[in-house]
Amino acid sequence: MKMVKINLKTLKNRVQKEVEKALDLKELDEIFKKYLGKRGEITRILRSLEKLPKAKRVKIGREANELKNFLREKMEQKKSSFVKTTEDKEEWLDITAPGQKLALGHLHPLTQVQRKVEEIFQTMGFSVVEGPDMETEWYNFDALNIPKDHPARDLWDTFYLKTELPKEAKVKMKTKFSSPNGLLLRTHTSPVQVRYMESHQPPLRIIVPGNVYRHEATDASHEFQLYQVEGLMVDEKVSVANFKAIIGEFFWRFFGKDIKFRLRPDYFPFTEPSFDVSITCLVCGGKGCPVCKESGWVEMAGAGMVHPNVFKAAKLIPHQRSSLGWQGWAFGFGLDRLAMMKYKINDVRLFRSGDLRFLQQF
Ligand code: PHE
Repeated sequence: MKMVKINLKTLKNRVQKEVEKALDLKELDEIFKKYLGKRGEITRILRSLEKLPKAKRVKIGREANELKNFLREKMEQKKSSFVKTTEDKEEWLDITAPGQKLALGHLHPLTQVQRKVEEIFQTMGFSVVEGPDMETEWYNFDALNIPKDHPARDLWDTFYLKTELPKEAKVKMKTKFSSPNGLLLRTHTSPVQVRYMESHQPPLRIIVPGNVYRHEATDASHEFQLYQVEGLMVDEKVSVANFKAIIGEFFWRFFGKDIKFRLRPDYFPFTEPSFDVSITCLVCGGKGCPVCKESGWVEMAGAGMVHPNVFKAAKLIPHQRSSLGWQGWAFGFGLDRLAMMKYKINDVRLFRSGDLRFLQQF
């Protein structure tokens, strides 16, 4: 009996010391197991009580229970002191530490180029106009004097849409379509020429930036989705010389230096005469490289004098030798091409790759 009594007292001291020394919740947990777990020392004492005579059992039982409560209480105290110190740690603020820089994004290089182009033309008196990406076959082809059997109308060049067209729109376009309802993703921004001339009287100067879509395989210089900027100027007396002057001024301002460019005869059904506009390749400086296909020149735009049939489709009277009427020129720039030349990028697919290593350079 005496033995047990002494044991309980030293046990109490030991327990108290161990709890005080504990450094974290894990150590506390171990102490709990050591004394109050299934095989813990205090648990064992409590279990052995039944073997003792009644009088001793009551006394030792009470003392052992007191020890158990004492240990529990000490452990609770210690636990709350841990929580407090971790809370204190979280709230602690080093006001001398340097701040963390917020990651700032910026506009996509194509958007930057688009804004630059808009700015330049706006200072030359052009308005920025938009048109729908989902276009009717009438505006994309027929109104632009593109005949029914033109290869661009092929299913392999154009994305036709299955979406139903509203009834009113169907009545308005009494043409036969290659697609069930005459809807497609526009293959160029030229349809906006007609849309704009239908609702505005000349003289006019507009540019039309926007996405266009072509059903084609992608490679370093072709994407199925690309940006174009259409330009249109209509007045009583507008000529190719006037176009050349405007486009020269644009190149000069866009690239920030004098750029050699040339016009060569080309063919578009909606312009007559038509030409392609090329500049010296800025990637190689005109020496020849894969981007310019070793020619030293890169085609930047299609252009020409607006075809009389386009004016007629927009219900405007075209200029003829015998009568007064409207004249105009139009161009269609590839915005991706402009960006490629400005920043010397050799793969058009990079723009839409979503690769931050590429985008962060602008
Ligand atoms: N729409 C033509 C194209 O996508 C470019 C162009 C625009 C040509 C205006 C002449 C006039 O290729």
